[in-house]
Amino acid sequence: LQEDKVKVTFHLYDGRQLEAEGKVGDTLLDVVVNNDLDIDGYGACEGTVTCSTCHVVLTQEDFDRLPEEAGDEERDMLDLAYGLTDTSRLGCQITLTKDLNGLVVKIPEGVNDARITHTYGFRY
Ligand code: FES
Repeated sequence: LQEDKVKVTFHLYDGRQLEAEGKVGDTLLDVVVNNDLDIDGYGACEGTVTCSTCHVVLTQEDFDRLPEEAGDEERDMLDLAYGLTDTSRLGCQITLTKDLNGLVVKIPEGVNDARITHTYGFRY
């Protein structure tokens, strides 16, 4: 493992576990995109904080050690996320630090693209 590499494991609701590497400064969304991870509908708004499809669930411990708390925009969007928990964050708003090496996140079963909900009042 190189100095600035950060390993992240994504646990999918269907039982798959996807391991990937990112760099310090990448967001979790960057990790998914750069590793071409097959996660349905993930990151639909490309990190512009308008969709909530990048919702991830962390352990309490990891949640507490994230360097930054959710900002207003992120919190508003999380309110619309499917299966919201107390340790939910948006993957596009989590920036990797060295300290997060070995991070494990869960991807909830459903995604709610807030852009679609807002436009058509439709949930999937
Ligand atoms: Fe859309 Fe994160 S990618 S809110």
